[in-house]
Amino acid sequence: MAVTLGFDIYGTLIDTHGLVPVLRDLVGDRAEAFSKAWRDKQLEYSFRRGLMEEYADFGVCTRQALQFTRASFGTELDEEQLQDLIGRYKRLPAFADVRDGLTKLREYGFRLYAFSNGTEAAVASLLDTAKIHDLFVDIVSVDDVASFKPDPAVYNHFLSRTGAAGTEAWLISSNPFDVIGAVSAGMRAAWLQRSPDAVFDPWGIEPSITVDNLYDLGERILQYQGSD
Ligand code: LAC
Repeated sequence: MAVTLGFDIYGTLIDTHGLVPVLRDLVGDRAEAFSKAWRDKQLEYSFRRGLMEEYADFGVCTRQALQFTRASFGTELDEEQLQDLIGRYKRLPAFADVRDGLTKLREYGFRLYAFSNGTEAAVASLLDTAKIHDLFVDIVSVDDVASFKPDPAVYNHFLSRTGAAGTEAWLISSNPFDVIGAVSAGMRAAWLQRSPDAVFDPWGIEPSITVDNLYDLGERILQYQGSD
């Protein structure tokens, strides 16, 4: 079977800091810090909900994280502004290499899946906005198993949905916690280091490969599979 690639969405293909220009109008020069705090809290809520077995979908984590961030920054965003930000979050932009990079990977013969904490509807909206939906075989959402990355159950769900063996199934992610989760569950994983100052967690569990853009990925995966 062709090698299967599961692409993390938020932070990997889609820029979670794409609303910084909009936030600048709302919170001025604290826009970048606000965006980062919002994203960090959103992930924290997903981790905590996973551990507590108190699942509510990723859209809830995103909205509650925004409410928390609004309060902790002491900002005056009203309900309408909050709703506007949530609406825009469903249409966040893709990174510049995404359309061409994924097209090239398809030409290599890889099977491409979106594999995300986001619900199928939320991910579909992002893929449609970025005009890349047609490049994927399907969307696999953690929503199906009511848990979040890095619960091993979600990586096992990806393997069973795609029918791929762990040795031929790759997670592609910019999120170190996601890479570590996939490797621990028996998958291969590429860390897409989207920024030179991004740091990988020093847990002693390493990515199978590290790349800094999508264009080099196909060659590197084939090399790895060949030497495996
Ligand atoms: C996702 C989160 C981890 O898209 O960014 O699954």
